[in-house]
Amino acid sequence: MKFPIVFFQLLNVVYSAKILGYFNFPSISHQFVFQAVVRELSLRGHEVTYVSPNNIKDPKLINLTEVDLSDTYKVFETTDAGIFNRNAINLIAVCVFGNKLIEDIITIEMELEQVKEILMKPENSYDLIIVEAMNPFHYGLQHKFKAPLIAISSFGLTSVLHDIIGNQNHPILYPDAFCGYLNPIKNIWEKIDSFYVNMVFYLYSKFVGMPKYDKMARTYFGEDMPYVEDLVRNVSIMFGNVDPIFSDRRAIAPNYKEVWNIHLKAPQPLPADLQRILDDAKTGLVYFSLGTNVRFEHVEENIKQEILKALGDLPYTVLCKWESEDYPGKPNNVVLRKWIPQQSILAHPNVKVFVTQGGLQSSEEAIINGVPLVVIPFLGDQPLNAKILTSRGMAETILPQSIKNDLLRDTILKVAKNEKYRLKAHELRDIFLDQPRTGLEEIVWWCEYVIRHKGATHLRSPSAGVSLYEYFMLDVLGVIFIVLFATYVAMKIIFGAIIRLLRGQKHEKQKND
Ligand SMILES: *[C@@H]1O[C@H](CO)[C@@H](O)[C@H](O)[C@H]1NC(C)=O
Ligand SMILES: *[C@@H]1O[C@H](CO)[C@@H](O)[C@H](O)[C@H]1NC(C)=O
Repeated sequence: MKFPIVFFQLLNVVYSAKILGYFNFPSISHQFVFQAVVRELSLRGHEVTYVSPNNIKDPKLINLTEVDLSDTYKVFETTDAGIFNRNAINLIAVCVFGNKLIEDIITIEMELEQVKEILMKPENSYDLIIVEAMNPFHYGLQHKFKAPLIAISSFGLTSVLHDIIGNQNHPILYPDAFCGYLNPIKNIWEKIDSFYVNMVFYLYSKFVGMPKYDKMARTYFGEDMPYVEDLVRNVSIMFGNVDPIFSDRRAIAPNYKEVWNIHLKAPQPLPADLQRILDDAKTGLVYFSLGTNVRFEHVEENIKQEILKALGDLPYTVLCKWESEDYPGKPNNVVLRKWIPQQSILAHPNVKVFVTQGGLQSSEEAIINGVPLVVIPFLGDQPLNAKILTSRGMAETILPQSIKNDLLRDTILKVAKNEKYRLKAHELRDIFLDQPRTGLEEIVWWCEYVIRHKGATHLRSPSAGVSLYEYFMLDVLGVIFIVLFATYVAMKIIFGAIIRLLRGQKHEKQKND
């Protein structure tokens, strides 16, 4: 009889917990993931507060309270995300830029009345806090409210975060995603580059980034706060949105979970005009979209013309996400749209090829629909994604600087005509979808687990927070060296004495003879 009672109690403990989901970063592709999580938690009866620049605004979610941070989008009026392009800039500039961006966002959000109201709440107002993984500042909330904290990344982790929570972090086996190398690295120059990138990120975080976030967090969360890096390390569970195709297959700590298929929904019915265009495209349709970050207003005119020329030469209908619905020189087979319901388009059987910038979410949407790709990677993780998809055989890559109409046309034709890309895409789709439960179910389950077990500190890895001298066993090697050296000295003295003794006897003997 005991067992069912205990089981019932376990279920009971998490009944309607108070959860604060605090996700400040102004990027819709990040927020899609967090929205799915807070929505699901609220549907399960938890009392959830979602602090975000992209509120869900669904009146049916009666257990969800939303705080609007859309003011944080203002930071992009003065910054250009193009700096996150590895070819264009030096590494320190990336660190400085990233820090500055996050600092500016925090400054904006902390001025908002609704945020101030939340921070006035007493300790223990929440049973669980969920934040975005990449920004150390918000880990301070666990000190403010004395509640366990879970972090979610809408993609993988940086090498710095891997290091902090005790995942294996070796620059040759697991290069930082920013380097854009497939692992393990074989080329010596790439090895050196990866080591260099890891070191710069590590040192910058250690000596500039963390101290700065620590100072900011103290002003809002209390001067008595522990050092912010220790609070990052104190995370109950960290989630990476990483599927088996993009995973770098790293040795990971028990409190780091790679989850995938978090926000992907069943395709919605298409608007009638798009449905007709797709149904009529009997010879096939090419879908062209460079995502939300690449803005066409910023693309040079001659590149736009090269793209339109290539698309016009294709024997297919082309559906193209563009800055406007009409454009000078638009070929007849090309349909331009400002907004396109991407998941539903990709689910249509007539789609032959998807030309994409290779963002993680677009790539995943292509994978679950088994659509082969032509990737034109611009920034961030896109170059690495392009390499992974190409090496897995479901894509071809064109570098943005080499876009020419004939190259683009020929590459699209190659991927459309050769069955092997589609077969590979289907193989990867089957791997992607074969999981015991979706990423969303997994996250929700672990959130309740952390509440049930009051922070679940038993999941922490002993390698989290180990210092470099311990990791490289310099203390052990030091003792071994001292013992060996002492042995050597002792041997030298003993053998020296014996030899002298023997010589002495010999001399004696010679004298006596
Ligand atoms: C709201 O929470 C209650 C329990 O507190 C739950 O029974 C109900 O299903 C939830 N409703 C919605 C729409 O989230
Ligand atoms: C670290 O996490 C545990 C479990 O959530 C919590 O009890 C503890 O107070 C946290 N430590 C700090 C310094 O916040």
